[in-house]
Amino acid sequence: MKKTNVSIVILAAGAGTRMKSQMPKVLHKICGKEMLFYSIDEALAMSDDVHIVLFHYAEMIKERILAYYPHQSLQFHIQDHQHYPGTGGALMRGNKENNELSYKGQAKALFSCQYEEILILNGDMPLVRSHTLCKLCEVQAKVVMSILHLSNPDGYGRVLIESGKVCKIVEQKDATDEELKICDVNAGVYKFHKSILETYLPKLNNNNQQKEFYLTDVIALAYLDQVDVLALEVEEEEFMGVNSKFELSQAQEVMLHRLRHQAMKEGVIMQLPHTIYIESGVRFSGECVIEQGVQILGQCEIIESHIKAHSVIESSIIDHSDVGPLAHIRPKSHLIRTHIGNFVETKSANLDGVKAGHLSYLGDCEIKKGSNIGAGVITCNYDGKSKHRTLIGENVFVGSDVQLVAPLCIESNVLIGAGSTVTKNASQGDLVLSRTSQKNIPNGFDKFFPSQSNERKHNE
Ligand code: UD1
Ligand code: CA
Repeated sequence: MKKTNVSIVILAAGAGTRMKSQMPKVLHKICGKEMLFYSIDEALAMSDDVHIVLFHYAEMIKERILAYYPHQSLQFHIQDHQHYPGTGGALMRGNKENNELSYKGQAKALFSCQYEEILILNGDMPLVRSHTLCKLCEVQAKVVMSILHLSNPDGYGRVLIESGKVCKIVEQKDATDEELKICDVNAGVYKFHKSILETYLPKLNNNNQQKEFYLTDVIALAYLDQVDVLALEVEEEEFMGVNSKFELSQAQEVMLHRLRHQAMKEGVIMQLPHTIYIESGVRFSGECVIEQGVQILGQCEIIESHIKAHSVIESSIIDHSDVGPLAHIRPKSHLIRTHIGNFVETKSANLDGVKAGHLSYLGDCEIKKGSNIGAGVITCNYDGKSKHRTLIGENVFVGSDVQLVAPLCIESNVLIGAGSTVTKNASQGDLVLSRTSQKNIPNGFDKFFPSQSNERKHNE
């Protein structure tokens, strides 16, 4: 996407109290990715001048952003929340006089943006897409805002329109009963010419229910000065705000729908797609089949593979393989041309050309071509203090119910008898057996269950 000559400011300094969480609202995840990062991604796709305003949990949020975007240049600003709370306050700063922040009327627009046009995004709108924002930026006016027409406008600022012109935005908490009935609401994305913010931000006051400086009041002030405010109607599916855990789940539904749709467009077959959960870091290539109830989490690459019903795949690579039903592929597994059946769990497992059909735990291991892992095989990778690896060569046949006590190295062409506990390395061609020999005691049953045995004798 070609970059636009627009500076973008993302507001992420709010307390997010309606989220009722220990965690900052904008770090809550949608399909495995922090909601704020979706907005940052879209902003970076459009502009090389992206600003983020923080206050609550500023250090934590900034740290997470820097870890996620190590190579991007982002400008951070801390809101003077004590003196200037609110979405307007997020863009304001007082004049410093005698180390005191002067108050009211003395405020200035906060920071310098590189471009004359400034696009402002709320940090709690993860579904907004850059191509829609670009359309908004193409509208030529000193003030452009976004409007949603909702059957249930609850929670949003109501937009007052007179003779086709936006004249005011009233927040829900300040609205009269009549105003509450208005279904045109402020979606929370605006484009301002820099001069508008410089003129009107210092004129904001906090005479409202929330005692906050509302960015939305800039619109009313501009209207009074006959500045044209253009409104663009946008879709709820893209512009909904996430304020509560319920809205978080609704936004995730929309995101999931997009991710699944994209995957199917790329050739993935999905059975009962609405039951499939995939995260934003999942990549598919070739023709994959994903059955119902599958979860694919974290950073995953699924290549020409079949994931059967109710399997869970986490941060792994599945290449020309089939997995499940009901298998659990845990992080750092790398499966190539491998068959994993039901109730098999893998973790940090490099499996190349392996069959593990049933009931196994394969952790911290590497297993090579042609090897077969019997039902009930366990890699005992943890000794209570540290984790150890199990290495298994080619064409190894591991019988059922074998415990492989790591660290362990089994060379190629080895046969391990069922029920063995293997604690020593094995060399090419070995047959490995470590089970006690079987003892059959005649009449042992009758001694153990004398009553059943009497009954049997009686019947005979
Ligand atoms: C805001 C709008 C409302 C609109 C709605 C759309 C205002 C006054 N109201 O309401 O008209 O319908 O968004 O979703 O703007 N923030 C700061 N500093 C603050 C307060 C908030 O940076 O002091 C940030 C928040 O982190 C958030 C964004 O601004 O990302 C919006 O704040 P929020 O409290 O969610 O505003 P709403 O009440 O939803
Ligand atoms: Ca909001």
